[in-house]
Amino acid sequence: MRTIGIAKLLLASVSAVGANAIVRGVNLGGWLVTEPWMTPSLFNATATADEWHLCNVLGKTECLSTLQNHWSTFYTRDDFVAIKAAGLTSVRIPLGYWAVDLLDYEPYVSGQYPYLIQAVQWAGELDLTVFMDIHGAPGSQNGWEETGLVGPVAFSANTSNSDRTLKVLQNLTTEFSKDQYGGVVTNIELLNEPLIGLPQLKVFYTAGYNVVGVANTSGINVTIHDGFYNPHSWAYYDPNNATAAVAADYLTVDTHQFWAFAPYTDLSKAELLQQVCAFGQSIRLQQSASGIPPTLVGEWSLSTGVTANSTTDAGQDQAKRTWFRQLFEAQNAAFTPNGAGQSSIGWYFWAWQTEYDIDAWSYRKGVADGYIPSNISDPSTYVFPVLDTGCIDTTFDYTAPATVTTSATTPSSTASTTANSSWNATPTSKSAADRTHLDRWEPAGWVAIASLAMISLM
Ligand SMILES: *[C@@H]1O[C@H](CO)[C@@H](O)[C@H](O)[C@H]1NC(C)=O
Ligand SMILES: *[C@@H]1O[C@H](CO)[C@@H](O)[C@H](O)[C@H]1NC(C)=O
Ligand SMILES: *[C@@H]1O[C@H](CO)[C@@H](O)[C@H](O)[C@H]1NC(C)=O
Ligand SMILES: *[C@@H]1O[C@H](CO)[C@@H](O)[C@H](O)[C@H]1NC(C)=O
Ligand SMILES: *[C@@H]1O[C@H](CO)[C@@H](O)[C@H](O)[C@H]1NC(C)=O
Ligand SMILES: *[C@@H]1O[C@H](CO)[C@@H](O)[C@H](O)[C@H]1NC(C)=O
Ligand SMILES: *[C@@H]1O[C@H](CO)[C@@H](O)[C@H](O)[C@H]1NC(C)=O
Ligand SMILES: *[C@@H]1O[C@H](CO)[C@@H](O)[C@H](O)[C@H]1NC(C)=O
Ligand SMILES: *[C@@H]1O[C@H](CO)[C@@H](O)[C@H](O)[C@H]1NC(C)=O
Repeated sequence: MRTIGIAKLLLASVSAVGANAIVRGVNLGGWLVTEPWMTPSLFNATATADEWHLCNVLGKTECLSTLQNHWSTFYTRDDFVAIKAAGLTSVRIPLGYWAVDLLDYEPYVSGQYPYLIQAVQWAGELDLTVFMDIHGAPGSQNGWEETGLVGPVAFSANTSNSDRTLKVLQNLTTEFSKDQYGGVVTNIELLNEPLIGLPQLKVFYTAGYNVVGVANTSGINVTIHDGFYNPHSWAYYDPNNATAAVAADYLTVDTHQFWAFAPYTDLSKAELLQQVCAFGQSIRLQQSASGIPPTLVGEWSLSTGVTANSTTDAGQDQAKRTWFRQLFEAQNAAFTPNGAGQSSIGWYFWAWQTEYDIDAWSYRKGVADGYIPSNISDPSTYVFPVLDTGCIDTTFDYTAPATVTTSATTPSSTASTTANSSWNATPTSKSAADRTHLDRWEPAGWVAIASLAMISLM
């Protein structure tokens, strides 16, 4: 049930509870949709590039047993306990359509659903919320390994692909709005990182909004990825009214902020910190003034051009830990609201872990090695002061401790935290995003708009 009256009152306090609490979460990446760079050992024997081809080579029976073993070990209840202990409030769970809707000729196997239900139950027990997203849609919506199928972007090739996706969205909405799940699932994202033209994307979003937000009774917010067009492109967006003067209710925008790919790989530390700050200001505008719907930074990491060529692991590199801590706290501050009524509502780091805990991409390694605060819900565990601008004080003098004392709360799981040849892997695919969408965002313009909006509020 919606509790909008109470929610609005609570919003005034910023640190409210439930659907209006600030989201500080992690992605459970590489779990129910696998990616070679995240779990290389799954793919090593077949030398395949994605889950489709992995299963195609192994065959259904062996692929199912391989993936059953992965699903039951890569995330366990201990991981959810550790996520809670790090002060995180939510998990984002990427899903492939084939968990729900699989055709005979497709090599994928299904069997993920019981693990999804288990995850929602664990989250409920630990007072975490769950965000689900369609990471892999039929035909692939971006052609990258993260969708399960590397190759052409064929999602839009025919309506059967979107119809099947809507069927999956219908399933997730009906299932997870049942009382037995206790409202743990707060968001369902229609399509992750689509590389699809805006008019066509909007047609799909309208259909998806009307499935997930059906009759406004599911209690689940509909989340749309910005499609790399940036949150401001979705100002005043109402999927059912092209001339709307206000954004639709229960609609949340997801934007991803990565600096690991061209053209951002040439940025210096100072430039990165400046861009992070400027982007944060653009989503901390008042919703009422900017029209930008509630916005989550649903994926971000510590991977940048600055450490791209590093040959040491952060656990053994004090200078890297010093930089990571600053970059982490800069993004945490930038992607978190610092007042009521702002578009920004929080973030999900990519990811909680990888098989070999790649330093720039593993939250739990950051906590264990001390370059991510031990309790993200407790600002007294942060080191950098936050200025009135909402950005960290980049002049603050900080040096990471010389050595790492591995935290006692580091979860024991199947993954090794010892660095080896896989420790510095990066997704191979997303670099295309920035080439495809050169209009991603313009920080200079945004600072100007931010200043105007602030003036108009005074
Ligand atoms: C959704 O439901 C809430 C509470 O039931 C109501 O206040 C709100 O106006 C509804 N929104 C839409 C778009 O129907
Ligand atoms: C991965 O494959 C290579 C080459 O086939 C092999 O030498 C290596 O032992 C494999 N590693 C694992 C973890 O299976
Ligand atoms: C983290 O900090 C929050 C806010 O102070 C507190 O409520 C919570 O208990 C802390 N978590 C742990 C595991 O200490
Ligand atoms: C729709 O597109 C997908 C992906 O390209 C393809 O596999 C499928 O056969 C197409 N279906 C129809 C009905 O054309
Ligand atoms: C959703 O799909 C799963 C997997 O096929 C199935 O077990 C479940 O019953 C479905 N739920 C609904 C509400 O259709
Ligand atoms: C769409 O929004 C405009 C502006 O608020 C409003 O005048 C119009 O009635 C709305 N149309 C529909 C179909 O709701
Ligand atoms: C859910 O939607 C409501 C109403 O639009 C909004 O206030 C809230 O911030 C959203 N929460 C999430 C987590 O999407
Ligand atoms: C990292 O290595 C690549 C390839 O050799 C090079 O183009 C790039 O300039 C290097 N980056 C830095 C920051 O040194
Ligand atoms: C290093 O990675 C290989 C697979 O590439 C794995 O077999 C091995 O166990 C790893 N070593 C350590 C110390 O984690």
